[in-house]
Parts: sequence; C-alpha cells; structure tokens
Amino acid sequence: ELKQKQKNGIEHQLLKGKTLAMIFEKASTRTRISFEVGMFQLGGHGLFISSANSQMGRGEPIKDSARVMSRYCDGVMIRTFGQEIVDEFARYSSVPVINGLTDLYHPCQILADLQTVIEHKGGYQGLKFAWVGDGNNMANTWIEAAAILGFDLALACPQGYQPDHEVLQWAQAQGTGNIALTADPHEAVRGAHVVNTDVWASMGQEAEQKQREQAFQGYCVDDRLMALAHPESVVLHCLPAHRGEEISDSVIEGPRSVVWDEAENRLHIQKAIMATLM
Ligand code: CP
Ligand code: NVA
Repeated sequence: ELKQKQKNGIEHQLLKGKTLAMIFEKASTRTRISFEVGMFQLGGHGLFISSANSQMGRGEPIKDSARVMSRYCDGVMIRTFGQEIVDEFARYSSVPVINGLTDLYHPCQILADLQTVIEHKGGYQGLKFAWVGDGNNMANTWIEAAAILGFDLALACPQGYQPDHEVLQWAQAQGTGNIALTADPHEAVRGAHVVNTDVWASMGQEAEQKQREQAFQGYCVDDRLMALAHPESVVLHCLPAHRGEEISDSVIEGPRSVVWDEAENRLHIQKAIMATLM
C-alpha cells in the first residue's frame, strides 16, 4: 500500500515529526539510504549515528545509550555485530528497536525479499525456496521466515559453514515449512522457484576471504546451476554481490534476476515496518 502511494504521489506522512535514530557499527548502502529516505517520505527524520563518532564507539554501555537515545527518538534502528547487542538495546529502550542486521539475522532484508517474491510469483505458499552458500545472517533469517510462514526451504551450505544450529533446530521443531539442509547445491536448487545467495565472507569476516573462497568452490549460482531450477524461477541477492564468486554476472544481470526490485523494496517494506512500530 505504501509502495503504491509513493509511486502515485499520494500523501502518506504517517510519522510526521517523529525521529528514528540509525546506529551503524558496520558499513551500509541500502539499509542506511532506505531507512533515511523512508523516514523523510513518512514526514519524519532519520538520524545517522556512526558508532565510531558517538560515545558508543568509546565504550559507553549499551544499556545507557539505549535509555538516553530512547528519550530523544521515537524509534531506533541498529546494525551491529552480536545479536545480543540489539537484544540488550531493546531491553533498555522505551521505544521500538529495529534490527538492521546482526551477525545472526537480517530481518528487514527478508521482509523485502518476500515482498519481491509476492510481486513476481503472486505469493510464497507452495513455492520451493533455495539458499546456496554461507549459512549466515541471511540464511538464518530465511530459516525463521520459513518456519513462521510455512514454506519449503532447501539450504546448500558447505561443511563448517552451516546455519546457526539453534535457529535451525527451533525452526524444524515448529513443524511448519519443510526446512532441509544439504551440502549439495544441485539438490537444493532442483525445481526451486526462488534461488537466493549471498557473499561468502560477510562483514567482519574479511580476514577469512581466501579460506572461504576455497571452501565455497562449487557454490556459485551460475547458469549451469540455474538450469536445474524451475523454468520460471527468480533469483534474489540482498547485495552487495561479488560477481564470479557466489553469483555469476550472467545470472545477476539475466532475465531471472529480480535483485533491483528487491533492493527497491527495502524502502517500501521499511516504511511499513516503521509506520507499524512507531
Ligand atoms: N542488503 C543490505 O543490507 O545492503 P547494505 O549493506 O548496503 O545496507
Ligand atoms: N551477509 C552479509 C549481508 C550484507 C547485507 C553481511 O552480513 O555482510
């Protein structure tokens, strides 16, 4: 609804006079811009806070920062390392706290991805989703989503790079979606309607790049792998992408790629998240 309003120039200033603090302990293009622009379009203000230039970067406790910031702002978005940092911030904050990516999860991205799937496939029920590559924050959040919403998810991850064990166990115990883990990308992608991948080394893992390049050989979403997918499959990538590593240039630039719609939807879905929570 908010996407249609924005496209048609219909007023939707649902957060007039409100302020969102956006704390970044890691780099960002899409998350930072989409939250800041989204807040502006909703009539509010997004405040960019780099941890390096705030007292948080000098060791001011999370619980103190949370209590102070939530007295100034109407919502807080955090991108950081440990999930426990967001959890602690939320515990001490008196306003909603949005996870803008941690080492464990990336929920705003998966909501945008699902919106993109709904737009291109008409829904997500009855579809097979495939994840190829690192069992990282994106993979963990897909697992959560599959369990909550009840769709089939097949993940192909090399040994040693599997998704979070607790998240997987919890999800499989829900008995909703069929969530399968394999080391074979062919098995995961065969017949899939949605094929999704992400970088081999996430933010904070840069020193492992070379070692990971070895471990992930054979996990590139390329034309040969995509030949096994459903003929009308779509390809997702949260971006930034490393062409020639987790995805080939021909696939990301090809007809099945919906990555630009996916990136755009970060804006729309985040506006919906903020309007709902704030
Ligand atoms: N996909 C995503 O979160 O991108 P940024 O790291 O640029 O925010
Ligand atoms: N898994 C990646 C996602 C970037 C949006 C990372 O955490 O760096």
